[in-house]
Order: sequence, then structure tokens, then C-alpha cells
Amino acid sequence: MRETHTNADMSHQNRIGYKLDVLLNSLRANGFLLTLRKMFQRIYLKIKGVDFSTQNIYDLTRTGEYQEHGTALVSSSKDFLIQLIKDLESVIETPLCKELFIDYGSGKGAAIIHAKKIGFKQSIGVEFAKELHETAVENIKKMKLENVESLYADAATYVPPKNVSVIYFFNPFDEVVMQKVIENILEHKASFENEVYIIYANASCKVLKDRLTLLKEVTYPSGSTADFFKV
Ligand SMILES: C[S@@+](CC[C@H](N)C(=O)[O-])C[C@H]1O[C@@H](n2cnc3c(N)ncnc32)[C@H](O)[C@@H]1O
Repeated sequence: MRETHTNADMSHQNRIGYKLDVLLNSLRANGFLLTLRKMFQRIYLKIKGVDFSTQNIYDLTRTGEYQEHGTALVSSSKDFLIQLIKDLESVIETPLCKELFIDYGSGKGAAIIHAKKIGFKQSIGVEFAKELHETAVENIKKMKLENVESLYADAATYVPPKNVSVIYFFNPFDEVVMQKVIENILEHKASFENEVYIIYANASCKVLKDRLTLLKEVTYPSGSTADFFKV
């Protein structure tokens, strides 16, 4: 198999051994109560029939020109998103405008669902793998949420609506796609109605640092990272 971003194999994350490791690490890092909370969140999603499981993308139907430049699906957790929003708010020293949250490479819709749950008026996800987008649509239905939308589209050609306020990247693709994405965002910047902030979690390329002003870079105890930018 050719070595590309798209071919990365993340299926080990669904194995019992990996999950046990995550549980033990969470107990060590977060203590019993927070770990219990995370377990309840997972059980709640299971009961609702919501699927945010990790999935490889190399065997999925992908749209657009950049099929070999994407990363496998790993979903954001609600606690991680809450932490990111809280940290961005403390960097900008003011509450964020929660008008429209956009997730580039939105997978099964975890981040757009969490964003709506934590107070955004509207959230939109852009996902180039058809099967993941279809699961996201099902997940949104099961959570009975309004103003949450998954689009089956290539992030490289997506133009954000003018009411965007937060843009989220959870290490979705390499610098080739990121370059196109940031060009599109900057080209439409004049039409944006709100201050727009970008959260780039687990960054794997430097494009945003080259094109925007970095507000802050954070490394969490779990090893995850976040870069915060203003557009
Ligand atoms: C690491 S996952 C992040 C999932 C989601 N953002 C979340 O936080 O739960 C990266 C996702 O980006 C998608 N992706 C990769 N390249 C893309 C592209 N060019 N356009 C749209 N989606 C893309 C992948 O299919 C995958 O679902």
C-alpha cells in the first residue's frame, strides 16, 4: 500500500487492549470522577445508537481532487472540545461569538454535535468520505439536533458562510489541502460578519503558522496539542 496520509491505519484504536490503556491513562491523569464522567458520556452515546468510532478512510468513497491527503477518522471528545473553547476564551480574554462553528473534515459529526450541545447556534461539518458523512447525518438525527449539518464535500473547495465565528481542524489533512483551505478563508475574510478564530488541534503542518498570527500553542497532559489563531 502506498504511504499517504489517507492510508494511515487507526483501527487499533477500536481494540479492547487500546481502550483499556486509554482507561488506565485517564484514571492516572484525570482521577476516578472525571473518568467515570467520560464513561457515562460513552454509555449515553451507545444507548442513543450514536457511532463516533475510529475508522480508516482508504477503503471509503471519497470526493474531490485530494483523496490521498486526508487523515483517518478519529473523533473529538466533548470534554476535549470544551477544553479547547475554554482555553481559546482565556487567550482572547472574552467569551467567543457562538454564531457558527465549522469543522473541516468532520467525520461522523462528533465535533459539530458537541459544538451545538455546548452552545453554538449553528454548526456545519465538511466531510469528503461519503460513508462517514452518511453516519454523521444519522448521528445528528439520533441526537435530535437542529441547525447541525454535515456536508459531503471536499474541504479544499469549501467557502465558509459569512456568519462563521469558529473554525475547527482536528488534524484532518496535510499541507496541500490546508494551503487551499486557508487561501479560500482569507479570500472571503472581508465578507465575515464576526471575529473569526481558528482552533487547530494536533497540528501536523505549518501552513497556518505561516499565514496567520498564532495567538497561543498549548500541549495537554494527554499529549494532544492545540494552536489558536485569529483570522
Ligand atoms: C482526524 S478526523 C477528525 C474528525 C472530526 N473533525 C472530529 O473532530 O470528530 C479527520 C477527518 O477529515 C476528513 N478529511 C480528510 N481530508 C478531507 C478533505 N479534503 N475534505 C473533507 N474532509 C476530509 C477525513 O475523512 C476524516 O473524517
